Amino acid sequence: MLLSWKQLVLLSFIGCLGGELLLHGPVFISEPSDSMVPVGAEDKRVTFKCEARGNPSPQYRWQLNGSDINLVVESRYELNGGDLVVINPHRDRDSGSYQCFATNPLGTIVSREAKLQFAYCLDEEAKVYGRPRVSWTACTEELWGAAG
Ligand SMILES: *[C@@H]1O[C@H](CO)[C@@H](O)[C@H](O)[C@H]1NC(C)=O
Repeated sequence: MLLSWKQLVLLSFIGCLGGELLLHGPVFISEPSDSMVPVGAEDKRVTFKCEARGNPSPQYRWQLNGSDINLVVESRYELNGGDLVVINPHRDRDSGSYQCFATNPLGTIVSREAKLQFAYCLDEEAKVYGRPRVSWTACTEELWGAAG
């Protein structure tokens, strides 16, 4: 059976419509991963990824150490799609475990926990006479509870 182009257009239209009408709960496309910020380089932004598909499109929220981040009140955070941007992250306020929640009327999914950690970095220089001299930056992970 040969279909006329009108039938083909109609079929693909129904196909698209069918796809859009298929409601489903959120599924992660990307989840956040651990991030490390060198102490002293805090005038930066850290982005935690979070993207989910779902129909209807999911809404996103984030938790730090199990407490909701109020993205409306806290101007230090930005929501970019589902991504969380932490502006000028600071050790005392921002270290901890971040988790993304994606919700639509069919359900809520919770991402893996991503840690934001701060590291102490030292500029080292090889104590070698003559050339070449080698310099590098060594970072030590700060262990929670170990410092201070
Ligand atoms: C989150 O929990 C970790 C580990 O207990 C702690 O070191 C950190 O300070 C907490 N972060 C905040 C913002 O309370």
